[in-house]
Amino acid sequence: MINIPKGTKDILPNESYKWQFIEQEFRKICAEYNAKEIRTPTFEHTELFLRGVGDSTDIVNKEMYTFLDKGERSLTLKPEGTASVVRSFVENGLFNEMMPQKFFYITPAFRYEKPQSGRLREHHQCGVEFVGSANAEMDFEVISLLYNFLINVGLKNLKIHINSIGCEHCSKNYKLALKEYFKDKIQFMCNDCKRRYEQNPLRILDCKEDKCREISLNAPKILNFLCEDCQLHFEKLKKLLKENNIEFEVDENIIRGLDYYTKTVFEVVNSNNMALCGGGRYDNLIESLGGPSVASVGFGQGIERLLIELEKQNVEIKDENQLDCFVIKAGLENSIDVEICSLLRKSGFSADYDLIGRSVKNNFKYANKINAKFVIIVGEEEFKNKQIKMKNMQTGEEQLVEINELVSALKGK
Ligand code: HAM
Repeated sequence: MINIPKGTKDILPNESYKWQFIEQEFRKICAEYNAKEIRTPTFEHTELFLRGVGDSTDIVNKEMYTFLDKGERSLTLKPEGTASVVRSFVENGLFNEMMPQKFFYITPAFRYEKPQSGRLREHHQCGVEFVGSANAEMDFEVISLLYNFLINVGLKNLKIHINSIGCEHCSKNYKLALKEYFKDKIQFMCNDCKRRYEQNPLRILDCKEDKCREISLNAPKILNFLCEDCQLHFEKLKKLLKENNIEFEVDENIIRGLDYYTKTVFEVVNSNNMALCGGGRYDNLIESLGGPSVASVGFGQGIERLLIELEKQNVEIKDENQLDCFVIKAGLENSIDVEICSLLRKSGFSADYDLIGRSVKNNFKYANKINAKFVIIVGEEEFKNKQIKMKNMQTGEEQLVEINELVSALKGK
């Protein structure tokens, strides 16, 4: 037997309806906010993520699925969605069109991580990227979309954690302060942190090692290093969130694990402090990937983590794919069951019939097991009279109906 690769998951029919629900709700909220879908390839040139996500990040250093194709090109399965959207925005000259532009996507993402609950090697994200405004109103719109989406799917105790990591000027000073702080401590930290100290000391704050986290606790906080412009931006965003009753908390520890962020960063975390969702502003990424300077902000919501959290919170997701009608013919050799199914399907009902030659009794059992709403029975007598018997499987109520009135009878239910 060949097993599924470690860190990946099958989504079986007894679960896929939950994914459909999340995706439908996401599409719905994106339409409400006037965001349009963008689809980008599953793999990209490795260079995109080196430059986009940043070569000091764990994603690029340790987690990318990178391979040479038969033409010796280095390609990488996308570890996240933003860099691809930006690549596409630049490559297709979308910057020539009116701003802002609002994109959304639902995509798989691949990271070579140590698998555990909520941490997979292939996960899925629904995300948005709003492109073309440096104003805090656009950060607000993105957070508001996320907030309402999470409310709509039923998430409780929702609080968005926000922070600002400033612009390149603020972070230059902040990185100097971090270097100073860690100067006499780095010798006690892990090898990755030693590399981070040289490459980008901000990334030390991402370290998951207990001893490194402990040392980082008293590190200088970015909010004390914001320039006036970044401070005003952050104040404006907080004001907008407050005015619109979106609950948030300022969390100075959020710095995010990707290099492209500027100013606003945010996460939704669960009670175990695991990020359910992450996002932020990235005002320099488009330019650094060869486009003009266009300010942007977005988020990525992990679908697996969201579903785990909804289940933990006992939020029930209904399976809307319940079969409308199971058609059973009794004692007949013709294809009346096929004809009735075809009629029902053309009229917008889901319908099915026996494909393996069960007895009537076993067909009832089957219809019951698959939770069909109605069983439609045609026996010799009914067939002769151009009628069917319709049984409501929930109430047990039976009704004799003319075949040509079946559809309207069902519509009335
Ligand atoms: P991220 O925080 O790296 O941000 O990932 C976004 C979300 O994807 C996480 O909050 C989590 O729900 C989910 N996720 C990440 N890694 C895994 C994993 N190994 N297993 C399961 N779920 C995972 C980004 O990817 C950015 N592109 C978000 C963004 C969009 N920022 C601006 N625009």
